[in-house]
Amino acid sequence: MRVVPAAAAATDVAADALAIGVASGERLTGDALAVDQALDGLLALMLQNLEFRGRVHEVQVVPTQGRIASPRVILYGLGAAGDLDGQRLRSAHHELVRTARRHHLKRIAILRHDPIRPDDLQAVVEGSVMGTWERRSRQTGPEPERGPVDEILLAGFGDRIEGGIASAVQAGEATNRARELQNLPGNELTPEGLAQEALRIAKRHGLQAEVLGPTELRAQGYNLLLGVALGSSQPPRLITLRHRGATGGNTLALIGKGITFDSGGISLKPAESMSLMKADMAGAAAVLAAMDVIAARRPPFDVMAVVAATENMPGGNAQRPGDVVTSANGKTVEIVNTDAEGRLVLADAITYALRHAATHVVDLATLTGGARVAIGHAATAAIANDEALWALVSRAGERAGERVWRLPAYADYRVLLASKTADLKNSEYGEASTITGGMFIQQFVEDRPWVHLDIAASSWNDNDELTTVPRGPLGSGTRLLVELAELMSAERR
Ligand code: BES
Ligand code: MN
Ligand code: ZN
Repeated sequence: MRVVPAAAAATDVAADALAIGVASGERLTGDALAVDQALDGLLALMLQNLEFRGRVHEVQVVPTQGRIASPRVILYGLGAAGDLDGQRLRSAHHELVRTARRHHLKRIAILRHDPIRPDDLQAVVEGSVMGTWERRSRQTGPEPERGPVDEILLAGFGDRIEGGIASAVQAGEATNRARELQNLPGNELTPEGLAQEALRIAKRHGLQAEVLGPTELRAQGYNLLLGVALGSSQPPRLITLRHRGATGGNTLALIGKGITFDSGGISLKPAESMSLMKADMAGAAAVLAAMDVIAARRPPFDVMAVVAATENMPGGNAQRPGDVVTSANGKTVEIVNTDAEGRLVLADAITYALRHAATHVVDLATLTGGARVAIGHAATAAIANDEALWALVSRAGERAGERVWRLPAYADYRVLLASKTADLKNSEYGEASTITGGMFIQQFVEDRPWVHLDIAASSWNDNDELTTVPRGPLGSGTRLLVELAELMSAERR
């Protein structure tokens, strides 16, 4: 899909449709008002009669009968102007493009007017690009439900916007790549499949890459990762990509949970919705997709992506509840619940990163069902041990249109990780599971600045009641990590 500035005035743009965003309870202004005047006030009448209310994800096609150059206007809702943040703005444009595709419209002009501001360009483009992604792409029926949009024309965003468009398209496409990986079934996307994906990225940008298999992992003591992999016939992989932007200085390590299928292991999950556990590699997907963009932009500091990839399966060789395993950095861990596997593989991945000179650590993981209970799909839950890095991550989330909400990590919670036989237990679900999951990982960062992002809820929306968030895989964290690298680059300049 091409995204280009519109050459003509709104009423003269000859697209298949002219899209006009409407905030609930607000009038049309500026160029949108000019379009409405050409339509003899039809749009204002629809708003006045509440035939269109401007709710997020409300989209309506209106024929224009030759009064303007485009044969249709598409009204799309932005919700209350006061609630319009980057995440809702992207979601609204995601839904706009999906609706255009359902009507098989191929060229869409988007007309900017208040409350969308010229510097919302990035949000508009990223949301639109994300709207092109199709979860049903594997269906073999005769006529696809939605067709492609070939071109988006942007009107009213000012000139010299090509650079902004290009980077937003890049970030939107990376998000879609992460969604595609999340959506791949477990029989296709194996740990080795994730390694192959990483190697393709490395080749594209000339990155250093390393993939460790069982033999190397044993030799180097990555027993927590190996332990999770015991029940599976798929060998585990510890996958690393490195962008070298400077000699000396900081190294940002992006750590992704890459469980290509999480059955729970011997602590088997219930059958209901277990199929969603094919996406338990969403953290890895986001880390790899972000690294693809980061490598293309070549920031002036080192960035490393580390993905801990394995299945978590039951079986004759699987690890048992009660087993004690020694981590790569020498801590003993009692495995009280084999379904709390994410923190185990992440702990070893972080040890790998620290052994390879990481100075700042951000991990991304579908870690706990508790994230859904605590804050639901509307935001990613965070735990952090460092104010400065947290401030950067939080700012990156704002720029990316990805909400992050920090949970407390009071010392009181630490007793929930205490084991009677080992240094730590991998925690049973007693209380505060999102926090204790994060604090388990914290035990392995050796006091380096660290932020943990639990995307268990925010990376996949399966709640039909939630009508303001796109359904299915969301690629959460991809754009946030890209923005984080941008912010850290700016700090170095
Ligand atoms: N992958 C799951 C978490 C998850 C749940 C992700 C639902 C997406 C949707 C994780 O490995 C897990 O099983 N966590 C347990 C931890 C518990 C045993 C301490 C959980 O949250 O129940
Ligand atoms: Mn699990
Ligand atoms: Zn898991």
